[in-house]
Amino acid sequence: MKLAVIGTGYVGLTTGVCLAEIGHTVICVDNDIQKISSLKKNKIPIYEPDLEELLKKNVKNKHLSFSTSIKEAVKKSEVIFICVGTPPREDGSADLSYIETVASEIARDMDGYRLIVDKSTVPVETGEKVEMTIKRNLKKNLPFDVASNPEFLREGSAVYDTFNPDRVVIGVSSKKAENILREIYKPLNSKIVVTDIKSAEIIKHASNSFLATKISFINAVSNICERCGADVEKVAEGMGFDKRIGKTFLNAGIGFGGFCFPKDLEAFLWISQKLGYQFDLLKNVKEINENQKKNFIKKIEDTLWVMKGKTIGILGLAFKPNTDDMRFAPSIDIINKLQAEGAKIKAYDPKAVEKAKEILKNIIYCKNPYEVAKNSDCLVILTEWDEIRKIDLRKIKKLLKHPIIIDGRNIFEPTEMEKLGFIYKSMGR
Ligand code: UGA
Repeated sequence: MKLAVIGTGYVGLTTGVCLAEIGHTVICVDNDIQKISSLKKNKIPIYEPDLEELLKKNVKNKHLSFSTSIKEAVKKSEVIFICVGTPPREDGSADLSYIETVASEIARDMDGYRLIVDKSTVPVETGEKVEMTIKRNLKKNLPFDVASNPEFLREGSAVYDTFNPDRVVIGVSSKKAENILREIYKPLNSKIVVTDIKSAEIIKHASNSFLATKISFINAVSNICERCGADVEKVAEGMGFDKRIGKTFLNAGIGFGGFCFPKDLEAFLWISQKLGYQFDLLKNVKEINENQKKNFIKKIEDTLWVMKGKTIGILGLAFKPNTDDMRFAPSIDIINKLQAEGAKIKAYDPKAVEKAKEILKNIIYCKNPYEVAKNSDCLVILTEWDEIRKIDLRKIKKLLKHPIIIDGRNIFEPTEMEKLGFIYKSMGR
């Protein structure tokens, strides 16, 4: 099918590339001229495994192209996916102005039936606003459908997730729209959940909020474990074998970050309140998440005592492994606080250093974990990259001023670390 994807962020670019790979002809649009010109040169602005190779392949075989013109995309495509950003506003609500602008522009360029699919994460009732906007901006009375098709891909495994979704959610108000979307996703052989548009919109916010709740739950449990000498890793393992609970998203640590969970939690809280429901559970989820960072900083302070003049080596800056994304990374708040207390920071991240440099100042960025460890008073682990899991601990011990590791992601075994002669502190054990 001939498809257009408006917005080339994580979701839009991955969606465009993957839809091309499964056989559709896709035109990706963005109003950022520079971004489109580098995409045309096969350069992607983010680090995401496999994305660049697939992009090159599909540009070469003419399944994928890039443009700055919505008009061109609307003319050439039967289905238009809206994948623009919905950033948080001061009050926690989502800024939907990009969605509105794109919807009105699509309407003005339409010359026949189009299916307009919202993939951006939006609060419930956005679909009907998009429909209203399109109706208002059509030059003449043309048939169209609006659908909601929320995205569940994770950064760092975006391509894999797109090809192997647990489910595809399709929120529609007509059989025609349902059939078109079924046809688009047929090659994935995935479970398809068909709902009304509002339910699809809620599925997205509810899923992200539920996952954030799971993380905060295990982090709350980790606080109990710490106070009584239990091991949260064992507790999570024991809980996770229960299929109703499941093993994933029970990793205790410094909490969730990134551009999705914090923002979507806020937006879900905001829309609940607007609809007259106080979703206090989500307020607690947020609070527990903020407190995890504070608890972690206290652990560092308790271990090092006076912070002024100490050198702290940080391993991992990205909000999670396999991405260079620094948006709302816990490392930002933690490093800012340590610097405010007078500590010097050395840091290493396999991919996120360039993006970190824009946000975190006065840091000595190192080429590898060993350079970080050299003459540092302690090592602090903030992201569980595989490369960091595999560091040579004996070598690290020799390089550190004192053999201290404070681990915000529980990547090592406390008994092993003790055997190696480390003072090792982790979360909830
Ligand atoms: C999340 C969802 O997992 C995706 O399904 C969704 O599509 C996406 O948001 C989105 O809305 O766009 P993402 O933010 O890429 O994906 O990352 P996750 O892998 O979910 O991790 C989020 C945060 O939770 C990270 O900071 C991670 O370190 C933290 N986390 C995750 C934990 O602290 N503990 C865990 O057990 C799992």
